[in-house]
Amino acid sequence: MKKPKIVSGFSKLSKRGKIRWLVENFFSNPEEVARELKSFWYGDPQKQKIFDDFSENTVSNFYLPYGVLPNLDVNGTLYCVPMVIEESSVVAAASSAAKFWLDKGGFKSEIISTQKIGQVHFDWKGDFDKLDALFPSLKKAIADSTEPITRNMQERGGGISNIELVNMSHLEENYYQIKMTFETCDSMGANFINSILEEASRTLSLFVGQQEHFTEEEKKVNIIMSILSNYTPECLVRTWVECPVEDLGTFENGNMDAETFAFKFVKALKIAQIDIHRATTHNKGIFNGIDAVALATGNDFRAIESCGHTYAARDGSYKSLSYAEIIDGKFRFWLDIPLAIGTVGGLTSLHPLAKRSLEMLGKPSAKELMMIISATGLAQNFAAVRSLVTTGIQQGHMKMHLMNILNHLEATEKEIILVLSHFKDKIVSFTAVRDFLTILRNNTSSEIKYT
Ligand code: MEV
Repeated sequence: MKKPKIVSGFSKLSKRGKIRWLVENFFSNPEEVARELKSFWYGDPQKQKIFDDFSENTVSNFYLPYGVLPNLDVNGTLYCVPMVIEESSVVAAASSAAKFWLDKGGFKSEIISTQKIGQVHFDWKGDFDKLDALFPSLKKAIADSTEPITRNMQERGGGISNIELVNMSHLEENYYQIKMTFETCDSMGANFINSILEEASRTLSLFVGQQEHFTEEEKKVNIIMSILSNYTPECLVRTWVECPVEDLGTFENGNMDAETFAFKFVKALKIAQIDIHRATTHNKGIFNGIDAVALATGNDFRAIESCGHTYAARDGSYKSLSYAEIIDGKFRFWLDIPLAIGTVGGLTSLHPLAKRSLEMLGKPSAKELMMIISATGLAQNFAAVRSLVTTGIQQGHMKMHLMNILNHLEATEKEIILVLSHFKDKIVSFTAVRDFLTILRNNTSSEIKYT
């Protein structure tokens, strides 16, 4: 790599100009890299423009696999769920869990709540009781001033559901909040919430400034910031699977019975409740499924992840988001997760494949999508823990990973056939595959049989 130089006015360059600067400054083979970056552009320039406009300084597109999880039964409706994920075996694992539960009642899901939160954080020096006494009028002023923004949402059944004044000055001197709760219907609502909060902050400053019985100091509000909170514990969905233990069947080619499996499964879930190292990996498995559907449907997976992890630590220590129990011979496995997602607005209708994803799911409401996403997370979690307490994770994982290794080693079609057959009953590792390929490649005699 050449020594990076400071660049000014980069964002003003044309896309080709940006690529030129990039390849000339960072690559030893500029022509080749420029060609490669351009090769990932959409064929249709109109569509490419949509992608370019999503972000800034875009020079190309970064491809990820778009797969589908068929046969996911949620509340009796069969979905084919789109998943965008690069990790091998995630889609296969979720598909196998979906199929496993298909004849055992499928996944059940219910929406517990759909409230989102935003805050105006402000610094104010004064007698809190005086501000608190005025709060009913301030609340009305905020509702009135934000009405032009909330009108449309109100027509759809949403809007501002609550406004509170929160005294935080015991934690930080002169620190207070206007905490607002919202119902944003089928949209994720980030822009809606942030616009309201900024308007509310202006109203707050005006309102306080107009209070004649306030001291000069009390008439001044120092707005620190106005922003939604990605922690939405009241935008919650619960999803579960259950069946009599004996219906779970046998595992490991009949070598593990249902009782042993259920015991180990429940124990694994308890471990994820009490050990943060396991809890983190356990929840990562859940988010393998959740993020993949969030991405495929144009939702903000960073918001979903940060919320989920905070929720997992809601009682002071980080724990599993899912639970399992056996009561009266019945195995039950469930997930409670906050999911602030949308099916209208944002990328959902702009990204051509996000739009197709929602179409594939039957144009769900946000509530329905919450249930689909959480069922995918639970399916993923079931598949991971099932593997862990039976065969171990590597068996399935490395089989899927084998193709990645073969692609990395640029195996030919003929070599792929021979390698797949060789590793059918063997442990896959990068070294083992590379060594086997080396033997294959060094051996000019095609007479040798590889088993
Ligand atoms: C790998 O991406 C996810 C798992 O580690 C999850 C888990 O351990 O439960 C398999």
